[in-house]
Amino acid sequence: MLDNIVLKADNICKTYIDDNNNSINILNGVNLCINKSEIVVVVGSSGSGKSTLLHILGLLDVPSSGSVIIQGLNTVNLSEKQKSILRNVNLGFIYQFHHLLPDLSVLDNVSMPLIIRRNSFIQARYEAKIILDLVGLSDKENRMPYTLSGGERQRVAIARSMVTKPDCVLADEPTGSLDKVNAYKMFDLFTQLRSNFGSSFLIATHDSDLISIADRKLILEHGTLLEY
Ligand SMILES: Nc1ncnc2c1ncn2[C@@H]1O[C@H](COP(=O)(O)OP(=O)(O)OP(=O)(O)O)[C@@H](O)[C@H]1O
Ligand SMILES: [Mg+2]
Repeated sequence: MLDNIVLKADNICKTYIDDNNNSINILNGVNLCINKSEIVVVVGSSGSGKSTLLHILGLLDVPSSGSVIIQGLNTVNLSEKQKSILRNVNLGFIYQFHHLLPDLSVLDNVSMPLIIRRNSFIQARYEAKIILDLVGLSDKENRMPYTLSGGERQRVAIARSMVTKPDCVLADEPTGSLDKVNAYKMFDLFTQLRSNFGSSFLIATHDSDLISIADRKLILEHGTLLEY
């Protein structure tokens, strides 16, 4: 059903120019539809373009051609400001390398998407505390990111991506720094968000446990997505 599609990629291509002025096609006509409440995983070898694709779908990078359509809205001609609003309202992004704001505490990092949404400071902190509890980091809410382990930073990044209950979470290797126990806690969180808010997930991962809970599995190969 058309109105069930949360995010659509239409013939996305991405080309980089290398040091010798040769163009390298990383994405070569990617087509994809993510439906409401769906968990989709993307696998593919290192360098196949998974992060590149997620950044383009998350409006953090622009395709060389093709379009990204979010909740029926074609984003091609949107201004940076319009894209950042759409990102804040509809999307959650978990970066491969976390990208926490280094000068803000854990609690402030997780509150930030709600502050940007103009929620009150008190409301933002209240929601952030709930989700930090769910990722098992209540006791570290006043810590600065540099004092956390890699797995703890990853869980803060997961909490931050979900605090707004987005329509679609784009997650780049979200369990790459986690042990099995914490990875399973995160799967529970993903499925809770899906059942409670109808959120969808597009997850780049090599984690076989995470792959096994997905509704749909895709492989990025030679710049295109195929059923896996
Ligand atoms: N800004 C850039 N300029 C030139 N080449 C780039 C740029 N960004 C990415 N690439 C190249 O695009 C290819 C895809 O990179 P990408 O990070 O998307 O891969 P990936 O599938 O996420 O890999 P991994 O599993 O290691 O995270 C790589 O060969 C990379 O070197
Ligand atoms: Mg990557």
